Amino acid sequence: MNATPTISKPEHIAIIMDGNGRWAKSKGLPRVAGHRAGVKALRKLIEHSVKIKLNVITVYAFSRENWQRPKSEVDLLMDLFISALNSEVKDLNKNNVKLTFIGVRTAFSRKLQNSINESELLTSSNTGLCLNIAINYSGRWDIVQAYQAIAKEIVSNKIAIEDVDEVLISNKLSLAAHKDPELFIRTGGEQRISNYLLWQTAYTELYFTETLWPDFDTKQFDIAIDWFSKRQRRFGKTPEQVELTQN
Ligand code: FPP
Repeated sequence: MNATPTISKPEHIAIIMDGNGRWAKSKGLPRVAGHRAGVKALRKLIEHSVKIKLNVITVYAFSRENWQRPKSEVDLLMDLFISALNSEVKDLNKNNVKLTFIGVRTAFSRKLQNSINESELLTSSNTGLCLNIAINYSGRWDIVQAYQAIAKEIVSNKIAIEDVDEVLISNKLSLAAHKDPELFIRTGGEQRISNYLLWQTAYTELYFTETLWPDFDTKQFDIAIDWFSKRQRRFGKTPEQVELTQN
């Protein structure tokens, strides 16, 4: 009998969707057309993730640094977030996807905050794919807000300084509900983490591809997952030690 090889799928995948602007430029289109194509690519990837039963995906939709872009692009991105959320949330809900946003949402318009809050509420009891969307987020901000929360607990004598350890810090971060990402994917050719999930990616496998985000299709996503499944994750041990525990 031919057994189908089992691919070890990552439990949590973090994605930087880079290259929308260059994709648009290469086609003589305005940058916003690249972001619209980026939403389509994300939609397909989510449908595929539901189909192959992935557990958690965290995408970087807007960093704290992205506010520095031209106001016209920021405004168009905000409009796109609202329209994409409003048009997709019913389908996401039907597909049992649980939507969560990480980052400081109070910086956004009331309209966008309402769309965010409503989509989280609608999907809050879903049990399928957890889709985390990082908006107005940065990894350093996340660590700072965790430290502030811990400092408050120390000052109010809820905990002692000696109680502060890696587990406690992890539990105060925005993605405390999830295991750390096992696979990080960045499209668009740059090889950096860009202030994304800094604490959580300590042992993450990093996958970089030249493909621009709007062209990153399900086939390429599967290639990244397959690449991950072939990695030997050692966490500081020797290859021999790891092989022993696998046999
Ligand atoms: C980076 O490409 C992309 C962004 C800053 C925006 C990503 C957002 C989406 C794909 C929309 C997601 C929508 C929802 C509702 C979550 P870039 O503009 O930096 O591209 P470039 O490097 O080629 O200039």
